[in-house]
Amino acid sequence: MEREFEQIGGEHQATGKMMRAYAWLIEQQLAGSSIIPRPALDALMKLMVELHYRFSPTYSELPCEWSGDSGPIAEQSEDLMRVHYDKPLIVFENFLGPTMKYTMALYERGARTLEQAQEDMLDDLCTKVGLQNGEEVLDIACGFGSLSTYIMRHYPKCKVTALNLSKVQVDYIASKQNEPGHPLHADRFRIIQEDFATAKLDRQFDRIMVIGLFEHIRNLKLALEKISRFLKPAGSVLLHYIAYNRIIEPMANPTQDLFFGKYIFPGGRFWYFRELFRYQDHLRIENSWFLNGNNYKRTLEVWLENFWHNIDKIRTHPDIDERFIRTWDLYLRFCIAIFGGMGGRNVGNGQYLLRHAGPAH
Ligand SMILES: C[S@@+](CC[C@H](N)C(=O)[O-])C[C@H]1O[C@@H](n2cnc3c(N)ncnc32)[C@H](O)[C@@H]1O
Repeated sequence: MEREFEQIGGEHQATGKMMRAYAWLIEQQLAGSSIIPRPALDALMKLMVELHYRFSPTYSELPCEWSGDSGPIAEQSEDLMRVHYDKPLIVFENFLGPTMKYTMALYERGARTLEQAQEDMLDDLCTKVGLQNGEEVLDIACGFGSLSTYIMRHYPKCKVTALNLSKVQVDYIASKQNEPGHPLHADRFRIIQEDFATAKLDRQFDRIMVIGLFEHIRNLKLALEKISRFLKPAGSVLLHYIAYNRIIEPMANPTQDLFFGKYIFPGGRFWYFRELFRYQDHLRIENSWFLNGNNYKRTLEVWLENFWHNIDKIRTHPDIDERFIRTWDLYLRFCIAIFGGMGGRNVGNGQYLLRHAGPAH
């Protein structure tokens, strides 16, 4: 851990001290030896986030060593599955709510429940990509199939192909395919368990929707080039992922990530909202939106509440121990602070509508 701090020098010393305190606090918390009561910890995280957002050194553009045109498409995907997405199903079933959607819900339209807010987000995504009944859709990184399920239900002539690396999630979807009456129990739907970085598909699609994958992408440029090969000439793509507006070193520099990269999302990162605009050789951005982080804050608050409400069920799984529970409690709480900071204006979700850049492929 010391080595990581050595990289912080000169004008970044204040940030370095904060990071040191932050790392110490995290380890205490995960070991179960923290003496800070939960409400005080929440207040402390909130304060640290606000201080970072307001006073840390900021950059006008992403420094080139952290930019989106180097390295492989994705890094540490196997670790990511092991540490996160392939954790026992019982965990996810007991906090995500009925849609099983594992990304930001949309509260801006006035939803009063998580389920309604997720339905509103699914409607927002399908509307923004311009989905028409009868089209062929590719749902990349489909999670537990919430978007595919929504499309199968609301667009009865659409065909959906969903792709996902997680075995737990693909098994869950397969179980729904075998459930008569479930929207995924239809020939119009197919699921492929594969790594996006290496996936080869036998056809092109009218609409490609990529919700919550780019947090796990290292090379935006290569990822966009790859997506463009799966898109029909007149088709469109909707990307949706966590993005921030002010570049602050601890957020942009993955080597400083002492909690999320280590215990929650190996190989993961948050992207600067405008970084994608630099890579329009294959797909050009036709429209973009920044969704305020308060939508995610509220989503996470319900997830955290569900998590604790159902903790006895979660604890019954033999692979779930108290350290895991403390880790995920901190993960959800920390995210609440991150998205809620600066009134949700710094960290939220970026959405991008893209089409082929050049002549039809
Ligand atoms: C935050 S979840 C979002 C899931 C879903 N789109 C949703 O909105 O609920 C991220 C998803 O990306 C998938 N994923 C991560 N890395 C991947 C990769 N290299 N190839 C395919 N899927 C990947 C995970 O398994 C997970 O399903």
